[in-house]
Amino acid sequence: MWKILGLSMLLALACRGLAGRCPQICVCDNIRRHVSCRRQNLTEVPVTIPQMTQRLDLQGNALKVIPPEAFLSLPYLTHLDLRHCQLERVEEGAFRGLGRLIYLNLASNHLSVLYQEALGGLGSLRQLVLENNQLEEIRPGAFSQLGSLGLLSLAHNSLVYLPDMTFQGLLQTRWLRLSHNALNVLAPEALAGLPGLRRLSLDHNELQTLPGEALSRPDGLVQLELGHNPLTYLGEEDGLALQALRDLALDHAALQDVGAGTFARCPHLRSLDLQSNQLGGLPPLEGVGQLRKLNLSGNPLMCDCAARPLWEWVARARVQTDGLCLEPRRLKGEALESLRAKDLYCQRQGDKQEEGEKVAPRPRAPEEDRATTPCPAACVCSPDSQHSSCENKGLRLIPSGFPNHTQLLDLRRNNFSSIPKGSFPGLAHLVSLHLQSCNITHLGPGALNGLGQLVYLYLSNNQLSGLSAAALQGTPQLRYLYLDRNHFTRLPRAALKVLPKLFSLHLEHNALQHLAMGDLAGAKGLHCLDVSGNNISHVGPGPALELEKLHLDRNQLQTVPTAALEALPALRELYLSGNPLQVLEDQAFRPVAASLQHLYLNGTRLQQISPGAFAGLGPGLRTLYLEKNQLQTLPPMDGFTRLELINLRENPFRCDCQLLPLHRWLAGLNLRVGATCEFPVNARGQKVKAATAAFEACPGWETKKGRRVPPSAQRKTRKAGGKRKQARPVKVGKARPRKRTSHI
Ligand SMILES: *[C@@H]1O[C@H](CO)[C@@H](O)[C@H](O)[C@H]1NC(C)=O
Ligand SMILES: *[C@@H]1O[C@H](CO)[C@@H](O)[C@H](O)[C@H]1NC(C)=O
Ligand SMILES: *[C@@H]1O[C@H](CO)[C@@H](O)[C@H](O)[C@H]1NC(C)=O
Ligand SMILES: *[C@@H]1O[C@H](CO)[C@@H](O)[C@H](O)[C@H]1NC(C)=O
Ligand SMILES: *[C@@H]1O[C@H](CO)[C@@H](O)[C@H](O)[C@H]1NC(C)=O
Ligand SMILES: *[C@@H]1O[C@H](CO)[C@@H](O)[C@H](O)[C@H]1NC(C)=O
Ligand SMILES: *[C@@H]1O[C@H](CO)[C@@H](O)[C@H](O)[C@H]1NC(C)=O
Repeated sequence: MWKILGLSMLLALACRGLAGRCPQICVCDNIRRHVSCRRQNLTEVPVTIPQMTQRLDLQGNALKVIPPEAFLSLPYLTHLDLRHCQLERVEEGAFRGLGRLIYLNLASNHLSVLYQEALGGLGSLRQLVLENNQLEEIRPGAFSQLGSLGLLSLAHNSLVYLPDMTFQGLLQTRWLRLSHNALNVLAPEALAGLPGLRRLSLDHNELQTLPGEALSRPDGLVQLELGHNPLTYLGEEDGLALQALRDLALDHAALQDVGAGTFARCPHLRSLDLQSNQLGGLPPLEGVGQLRKLNLSGNPLMCDCAARPLWEWVARARVQTDGLCLEPRRLKGEALESLRAKDLYCQRQGDKQEEGEKVAPRPRAPEEDRATTPCPAACVCSPDSQHSSCENKGLRLIPSGFPNHTQLLDLRRNNFSSIPKGSFPGLAHLVSLHLQSCNITHLGPGALNGLGQLVYLYLSNNQLSGLSAAALQGTPQLRYLYLDRNHFTRLPRAALKVLPKLFSLHLEHNALQHLAMGDLAGAKGLHCLDVSGNNISHVGPGPALELEKLHLDRNQLQTVPTAALEALPALRELYLSGNPLQVLEDQAFRPVAASLQHLYLNGTRLQQISPGAFAGLGPGLRTLYLEKNQLQTLPPMDGFTRLELINLRENPFRCDCQLLPLHRWLAGLNLRVGATCEFPVNARGQKVKAATAAFEACPGWETKKGRRVPPSAQRKTRKAGGKRKQARPVKVGKARPRKRTSHI
C-alpha cells in the first residue's frame, strides 16, 4: 500500500518534471524527498538536487564556505545538515530562500564569527545547532531574523564574552545552550530580549562570579544550569532574581560558601544541586519555601554543632538532602539527613560554639564598609563577592592594601619571581589564593604568614623546585595545594608536615623520577595525589594513608607498584595509563582489591595479563580501561559483575578457542566494549562478541545456549606469548561504552 502510494507519487512528480536528476554521488529517496550526499568531499552544493527535496544531508564534505544564496534552488527544504563540512565562513544571505527550513545543523565546523546577515531568511527555523565550532564572537543582530527559533545551541565553542542584546530577536526561544564555552563575562543586557526562554545552560564555563543582573533578565526561566564554573562564593548581593525558577544546578563549581539569602528572590525553587563543591556547611536558606531537593553530595560537610541549623531546617522544611559528613571523624561517611540532633555537637573546648548557636560560616563585611572599600591600584576589589583580582597586570611586586574581608585573591599571570616574607598582610579571611603562572622561583620563609583561613593555594605553572616548611607556616587550614607544572624533582616532604589538613596535592607535570611515598608521612589526611606526567620509574613504600585517588598516569613505570599500594587500603581510583607496563603480574592489585572502583590501564603497551593479575578485584570494580594495548587475549573476566564501563578498543584480539570465555562473557554483557578480532585473518575486523563463526568449532560451544559452563572448564593454559605483529589500527567510532542496564 505504502509502496504503491509512494510510487505513484514519484511517477506523478516525474511526469511534472519536478523530481530532477539525482547527482551521481548522492542517494536520493524521492519518495520521502530525502537526499543524502554524505562524505563525498564536495566543495560546493551539487546543482542537480531535485527541487522538491525536503531533507538534505551534506555531512562530511569540504564546503569550506557557504556563498550567498547557495540553496536558492531548493525552496522546499525543511531540514539541512551541514555538520563536518570544514566550514570557515557563512556568507551574508547564505540561506536566503529557505523560508520553510525548520532545522539547520552547522555543528563541528570551523566557524569563528557569525555575521549579522548570515542567518537571514530563516523565518521558520526552529532548531539551530552551532555546536563544536570556534565561535569567539557573535555580531549584534546575528539572530535577529530567527523569530521562530525554539532551540539555539552554541555549546562547545570559544565564547568568552556576551555583549548586550546578543540574542535580540529570538522571541520564541525556549532553550539556549551555552555550555562548554569560556564565558567569564556577560554584559548586563546580554540575555535581554528572550521572552520565551525557559531553560538556560551555562555549565562548563569560566564564570567566577554569578552574573546576577544578566541572569535575571529572562524572567520566565524555569531551569538554569551553572555547574562546572569556578564560582567560589554566592551571596544575596549576587542578585539572582528569577520568579519562575524551579531547577538550579550549581554542581561541580568551587563553592566554599553560600549566603543564607542567596536564593531568596527565587521563591519557586524546587531543586538545588550543589553537589561536588567545597562546602563545609550551609546556612538554612531563606525564602525558598518550595524547595524539595537539595543535593550536597560530594561536599566536605562538617557535621558538628555548626551543622545543626541546617539539619533542623531540612527536617522542618522537608527538603530531601543528599550529603555525607567528612568531619568530624566519628561521623565520617554518615548521611547528614540520617543523623540525630544530638550527634551534631562540638568538642567542648572552653565554651566555644557550645550549643550550636554560632553558625555564621565566615564573618561578613559590615555593610558600612562598602562605600569606602580600599583596593590597590591596578586591581579590582568587589565588596559583594569578596574577591580581589589583579590578574595579568604585569606586576613585579605583590600589592598590599586589599580589603581585609577578601576571601579570594587572584594574582595570576604576573611576574613575581619570589614571594618574600609577609606578602599578604591583613588577609586573615582569605580562603583562596591564585598565584598561577607568576614566574615564581621561590617562596620565602613566612611568605604566607597570617593566612590562617587559607584553604586553596594555586602555584601551578611556576618555576618552583622546592617548598620549605617555613614557607607554608601559618596556613594550617590548607586543603588543596596546586604545584603542577613546576620543576619539583621530589615531593616537598618538609612542607607537607605543616599541612595537617591537606586533602589534595597536585604535582602533575614536574620532574619527579622517584615517588617516595614516605615523604607523605605528614599528610595523613591526603585523599588525592596527582603526579601524572612526571618521569617516575619507581614508587617507594610509605606509611598508611587514606588516599582515595592516585594519578600515576603518563610516567615511566614498568611494573604496577604493588608494594606501595599496601599502604593505601582506601584507594578507589588508580591511574596507570601511559606507562610502559607491558605485563601485569599475578596479584598486581591485591592490596587495594577491596576498595578499588576505577582502574586505568589504557595505553600501557600491555601484551600480557597473567591469569591472576586481577585477583581480588571483583564486584567492586566499576570501570576498567584497557584500550590501546597489544592484548590478544584476556584472563577470565567473570568476577567483574558490576562493571559499568569496560573499554577494550584497539587491542589485536586473537579470536580462537582460547578466547571463547571472553566471547561468551561479552555475549552476556550489554555494554559496548569495542573488542575487535585482529587474528585469524578471516575474522579480522569483526567484533569479538559477534564473531560466532570463529568459535563454533570450539569444544564446549554447544552448551552456550543452555547451562552455564564454568569458565574454568573452558579455559586452557594460556600461551599468549610469541612474536606479535603491529596491530592494524582499528577504526574507532565516537560511540562510548554505554552504561549497562542490567547485570548478568
Ligand atoms: C575524500 O578525500 C580523501 C582525502 O583526500 C580521500 O581519502 C577519500 O577517499 C575521498 N573520498 C571520496 C568519497 O572521494
Ligand atoms: C545527588 O547527586 C548524587 C551524585 O551525582 C546522586 O547520586 C544523587 O542521586 C543526587 N541526589 C538527588 C536527591 O538528586
Ligand atoms: C577590617 O578593618 C577595619 C578597619 O580598617 C575594621 O574596622 C574591621 O573590623 C575589619 N574587618 C574584619 C572583617 O576584620
Ligand atoms: C620579570 O621580572 C624579571 C625580574 O624579576 C625581569 O628580568 C623580566 O624582564 C620580567 N619579565 C617580564 C616579561 O616583564
Ligand atoms: C621570569 O624571571 C626571570 C628572572 O627571574 C626572567 O629572566 C624572565 O624573563 C621571567 N619570565 C617571564 C615570562 O616573565
Ligand atoms: C627520565 O628518566 C630517565 C631515567 O629514568 C632519564 O634517562 C630521562 O632523561 C628522564 N627524562 C626526563 C625528561 O627527565
Ligand atoms: C586513558 O583513558 C582515559 C579515559 O578515556 C583518557 O582520559 C586518557 O587520556 C587515556 N590515557 C592515555 C595515556 O591514553
